This record gives sequence, C-alpha cells and structure tokens, in this order.
Amino acid sequence: MENNVKTNEKYISPECIEQMLDIARSIRARFAQRNQHPVATVITYGCQQNENDSERIKGMLAEMGYGFTEDKAESDLILFNTCAVRENAEKKLFGNVGALKHYKQRKPSLKIIVCGCVVGQPHAERELKQKYPFVDLVFDTKSVYRFPLLLQRVLFSDERVFETGMADTVAEGIPVLHAKQSSAFVSVMYGCNNFCSYCIVPYVRGRERSRKPEYVVEEVRKLVENGCRDITLLGQNVNSYGKDLGDIDFTGLLEKLEVIEGDFLLRFMTSHPKDMSDRLIAHIAKSRHMPHHIHLPFQSGNDRILKAMNRGYTKADYLALIERIRTAMPDATLTSDIIVGFPTETYEEFLDTIDVVKKARFDTLFTFLYSKRIGTPAAVMEGQIPDDEKHRRFDELIAVQNEISKQINLSYVGRTVKVLADGTSKTDSSVMSGRTDANKVVDFTAPCDVKGKRCIVRITEAKTWSLFGEFVDFCS
Ligand code: SAH
Ligand code: SF4
Ligand code: F3S
Repeated sequence: MENNVKTNEKYISPECIEQMLDIARSIRARFAQRNQHPVATVITYGCQQNENDSERIKGMLAEMGYGFTEDKAESDLILFNTCAVRENAEKKLFGNVGALKHYKQRKPSLKIIVCGCVVGQPHAERELKQKYPFVDLVFDTKSVYRFPLLLQRVLFSDERVFETGMADTVAEGIPVLHAKQSSAFVSVMYGCNNFCSYCIVPYVRGRERSRKPEYVVEEVRKLVENGCRDITLLGQNVNSYGKDLGDIDFTGLLEKLEVIEGDFLLRFMTSHPKDMSDRLIAHIAKSRHMPHHIHLPFQSGNDRILKAMNRGYTKADYLALIERIRTAMPDATLTSDIIVGFPTETYEEFLDTIDVVKKARFDTLFTFLYSKRIGTPAAVMEGQIPDDEKHRRFDELIAVQNEISKQINLSYVGRTVKVLADGTSKTDSSVMSGRTDANKVVDFTAPCDVKGKRCIVRITEAKTWSLFGEFVDFCS
C-alpha cells in the first residue's frame, strides 16, 4: 500500500488522499465489526498552525470512528501535537509524555502518539525512540496527511512506527474537525524560507509552499455558508503567499476572498515586515471583511541585532512601515512579537527595542526570552546573555508596554465596539466573552446567551489586559 502513495510531488494527488480516506474507513469498519467505540484525546501545543493540523488529525480520527474525550484514563489513543519554538515547551513535553507511561501500564491497548514540530528535530526523535518505548507512533508535520496509514500499522501490527523527513507537500481534501463553529483557522501556506537565525520553524516545517487559491476560496466560502463569522488565514510568513505559484500574491488571494458575500471577518497571521507591501496595506484599508488589525513581529529595534537575526529590515524601515499603516488606517490596532536577550545584545541595543515599542504604541506585545534552539545559527553564537539579565530586560519591557496597553484600553471606555461572542468569561460564567474586530478580549453582561452572535457592546471599564462592557444590540 505504502509504495502506491506518491510523496515526491509538491501537490499530493487526489488518488493518494482517497487511499488515505479508504484506509480510515476500513479502520472504522473494523472497529464497528468488533463493536468497539474507541475514544481519543488530542492535546495541542504551540501556534495556530498546530491547532489547524490538530483539527485535520481530529477530522481523520473521526473518519476512523473515534470519538473524543479529555479524560486520559478513559482514552484509547492519546496524541500530543508538539511545539519546538522554545526550549521550555520541549522540556515540558517530555515530562508530559513520561507521565503517560502509567496510563499504558493500566491499559496496554492504549496507543500513544507524538507528532508536530518537536519530532522534526533529530535529537528529539532519537530521544523518543530510545527513552520512551511506550510511545507507539511518531510523525512530523509533513506526514499529517498520512496519519490513517501510519495509525493502521500501529493498530494492527503492534509495531512502533517512526516517520519523519518526508517531502514538503500540500495535501487537499483531508477532513477537518473545526474546534468552533463561529471561528476557524485556514492554513493558506506551509513552511518558512526566512531562516531567522534564532528560529527552529524552517527546520521542522520545511520550505514555503502555497495552497492553490481555488482550494482556499472554496474552503472559506463553505465555512461562511456554514455560519462561520471569523476566519484567520494562516502561514508562518503568510504575506509571502504565492511566491512559489508565480501568478498570484497574498493580496491577489485576498482579492479573491473579498468577493465572498456574507457578514464575516477575515484575519491573517503572521506577516513579516519585509513582505508587507503597500498594495496589501491598501487592500486591508478598503476591505469590507478585514478588520484593521495587523500582527507584525519586529523582534528587535536594533539594526545590528536585526542583521544578526537575519530579519531583512532595519529599525527605520519598520517604523516607516508602521507610519504607512497608520496613514492608511488611522484606527489600526497593531500587535507584535519581540525577543529579548538575543546573543550579544547589549543593554543599549535593547533600549532601541524599547524605543520602537514607545513609538509604535502596540495594543499588545508577545515578548519572549531568547531560547537556544539546537541546529540554529544563533545557538552557537558567542555572547549568550545570562538568564537573569534576560529577565531584567523582559521585566523592563513589560512595564513599558503595560502602561501603553492601559492607556490604549482606557481610551475605549464610553465607546461602543463590535464583539463576536464566543463563550462565557473565564472567571464568571454569567458574563459573556468575545473579541472585538481588532481581536481584543471583551467580557460583557448580556440579557441572554449571545454566543456565536456579533454584538454591539458599550465599554464601561478597562484594565491593562482586558475590557469590560454591556450589551447594547445585535449587529445588523
Ligand atoms: N512565523 C511567525 C511566528 C514564528 S514563532 C513570525 O515570523 O513572526 C512566534 C514567535 O516566537 C516569533 O515571532 C518569535 O518572537 C518567537 N521565537 C521564535 N524563535 C524563538 C527563540 N529561539 N527564542 C525566543 N523566541 C522565539
Ligand atoms: Fe521563524 Fe523567522 Fe520564519 Fe517566523 S519568519 S517562522 S521567526 S524563521
Ligand atoms: Fe511551535 Fe511549530 Fe508553531 S515550533 S510555534 S508549533 S510552527
């Protein structure tokens, strides 16, 4: 069977996907014959791309006849979809996998699976093979579409299966089990070509490859038809979409999506400053579906560090870009990612990062301590920064940003905003919770359950991290 599966082409053939679905259905038939009703636990770490991969894995598990549970003790299959972006995440993962040994001892038929970005690193695959003999199946991000075939081998031959290093491909037609009905992620491209010197992603997710636009348009259209109101297009470097296709760029894809009728929000992440064209900014400014929110990581405000990071822009380039965005969209909300303590970064160089934060006035920042990733150029650079110094800079940066976030949030008090309600507040189940068009979390009181609806909410109170308000009306 495996030899029939073509994997050396960029676009996996429909016949190959059909074979995978056949295998999935035969697994389901086998469970049904034995009157078995297996349940699976899928645990996902990391970014939205991983969430989206897990939705496809769950779609395939459902096709194979699995139900789902969060109770590991009850589970017949436990799958960890892992993230390798920082060392802490990886360490925690190995601890969590280790803890599964007891479940296996209690239930020997339990299948344990580890997939995702951690597994794409040779040292991690080796460790799983040698030190975790109770792990049955390991596969990296490039083999997600082959999951039915891999699981079949594990279920019916009792062998341990390790599959990594397949070609960089794009697979269409895999069933997807979306976590929510009102919002959804749609991956439009996979991989990354940027090789920022600190980052593991290009090594574990391979080279950039774009889905053909017609499949993306079809998926978005169907989601909207089924009531989805908030769609996020995903790519590690989403605004370089189409470079491998030749005849379309990211703005071209957005233009095709713009004509889809319906009341829905279209977001995207993550964009790279070097690929943020004026054409793209102009499109977002006039789009009827796209909120004026841009997540635009800058990582460092210092030119020498940016060069060492291989980011492809300077502090002045970045600030000029922010200016162009603010001119085109004065109401734009901006968010960003920053790394503090990149090797050799001096305190004075770090102050350039603070300077950008003060000038750009982001709504929210995602700040990370530099973490050494094996196999990346930065990991072997001289001049690694001690942990206590990284923490000191981190705290200083957070204090500056908290003040800015608070000021921005306070400016919302008394205003009305549109909020897509997606559930209840984490701290009070009688209070609704949702996100504004600009992706800000708002908890609000409402006269009834408004989950899944777009509402007009008046903001009555603001804190550094959150907004509170009251329901005014439904959006027309
Ligand atoms: N492709 C996206 C996201 C990459 S991972 C982008 O380019 O923005 C998300 C964030 O993790 C990055 O923006 C970066 O700030 C952070 N990150 C990546 N590698 C890291 C490392 N080795 N140490 C600390 N933070 C890291
Ligand atoms: Fe990593 Fe840079 Fe690619 Fe983002 S653009 S995934 S930070 S290499
Ligand atoms: Fe982590 Fe992989 Fe995403 S390393 S951030 S899950 S691409």
